[in-house]
Amino acid sequence: MDETRDGEGREEVGALVRDGTLVRLRRHVPTNLEAFQRWYADDEIARLLRHDQRPLSLAQSRSYFETLILPLSARGLCFAIHEASTDRLIGTTALTDLTMHPPRTALFRIVIGEKDCWGKGYGTEATRLVLAEAFERHGLDAVRLEVFRHNARAIGAYRRVGFRETGEHLEWVGRERYELHVLEMAIDRDTFYRVAGSGADLCQDQPSAQMAGARRGEERDRGGESSDHSFD
Ligand SMILES: CC(C)(COP(=O)(O)OP(=O)(O)OC[C@H]1O[C@@H](n2cnc3c(N)ncnc32)[C@H](O)[C@@H]1OP(=O)(O)O)[C@@H](O)C(=O)NCCC(=O)NCCS
Repeated sequence: MDETRDGEGREEVGALVRDGTLVRLRRHVPTNLEAFQRWYADDEIARLLRHDQRPLSLAQSRSYFETLILPLSARGLCFAIHEASTDRLIGTTALTDLTMHPPRTALFRIVIGEKDCWGKGYGTEATRLVLAEAFERHGLDAVRLEVFRHNARAIGAYRRVGFRETGEHLEWVGRERYELHVLEMAIDRDTFYRVAGSGADLCQDQPSAQMAGARRGEERDRGGESSDHSFD
């Protein structure tokens, strides 16, 4: 445990979970709330991340942080992303929606909230660190994700790690029925280690049986907030 504490004994930095070259994963601590609220109040981040395309109010993000982020972090399923060179808190990432019957899967989520950290390879490495947790600590068979077609930076990072597209669907968001193109991607354990070991992209790979089992590709009509996306 390497967390540090402030003058009143509160943890300022959570315990180390997994170390990388550019970033490290730590446990979330209550003092991360302020940064978390700033990220989720941002319009640009909401358009890249949230299925309702809307930022969260301070009350919403506080509730989200306290009822979902902190408990999941205590279970080793949600992580604070820290920049390795400075140990600054820069984002959050999680595995949610775990399925217990084979193939065991989870949904991957990530936000690097500090925008000066975008495009430096941090998201790619953070994704790899979370996948290592998923496959080594939690024994998952595959990890799924959803990403909006307009989020080229995220898609680039996911492909680099070895995620492949398994489907897509449309959602119609809000009163104005904004058309949201959602790509579904997945990676299984073997592919992850093969890509990590080769250091190469495998863009032409066919989805494996485990990934096909994780496939969902129907069109959905989503008028507003839904429980599926309470963790966007
Ligand atoms: C998505 C996110 C995690 C990616 O992390 P990142 O550190 O910015 O991304 P990386 O630098 O690791 O990789 C980005 C990849 O996209 C490419 N890229 C960078 N900027 C780009 C842009 N504006 N358009 C297209 N591709 C871009 C990079 O070249 C890189 O690909 P490469 O490794 O093949 O060169 C981060 O940007 C983020 O949190 N964004 C806001 C929230 C979000 O979109 N979350 C994901 C929701 S599914």
